[in-house]
Amino acid sequence: MQNETLKVIRARRSTRSYLTDKISDEELGAILEAGLWAPTARNEQEISVAVVRGGEVMAAFKEDFKKNNQRGARFDDFDYNAPVFLFLYGPRDFPYTEMDSGIAAENMALAAESIGLGTVIIGCIRDFMRSDAARSWRERFGMTENDIFTVGVAIGRKDKETPERPRKENRIKFIN
Ligand SMILES: Cc1cc2nc3c(=O)[nH]c(=O)nc-3n(C[C@H](O)[C@H](O)[C@H](O)COP(=O)(O)O)c2cc1C
Repeated sequence: MQNETLKVIRARRSTRSYLTDKISDEELGAILEAGLWAPTARNEQEISVAVVRGGEVMAAFKEDFKKNNQRGARFDDFDYNAPVFLFLYGPRDFPYTEMDSGIAAENMALAAESIGLGTVIIGCIRDFMRSDAARSWRERFGMTENDIFTVGVAIGRKDKETPERPRKENRIKFIN
């Protein structure tokens, strides 16, 4: 079977090379809206998104991350210099914060793909974002002491297409 939605799901790849072009307010608005309309456990709608549009804020964040990053230089440019980076977070005492974040992130990734933009979901800043070293960033992003960072989403115009990564087989079991 084939339709527009299935095509977008199949075509989305993690983009790790972006053009420097900005993305428009309209494009960003459509992507964020797709995140808000994601389903949430118990309809709690507790996932928040801090939107950083590149520039000095992102440069300062990356500098701080670099100083504290235990994961090696490969991760220093974790946002692949995308023009927009989203920080998703929610309450640490809600059992579905991670799940709801993942669903919202994928909704936004698919929305971006559907309008010709690239994304990559980013988990490698999680330890830093949850550490004491990131306290001031958490405050800046509107997080309370009860919030935890879950994932980031980099968004921009694709510079290079990402080759497909083959999917593992035998992961679906039909039970009769
Ligand atoms: C929760 C999560 C965290 C991820 N973290 C990173 C990351 O920190 N850096 C990165 O380059 N890609 C990251 N990815 C992207 C995956 O590597 C990617 O989805 C996977 O390799 C499959 O490739 P595709 O998205 O192009 O199909 C993450 C994906 C998910 C779902």
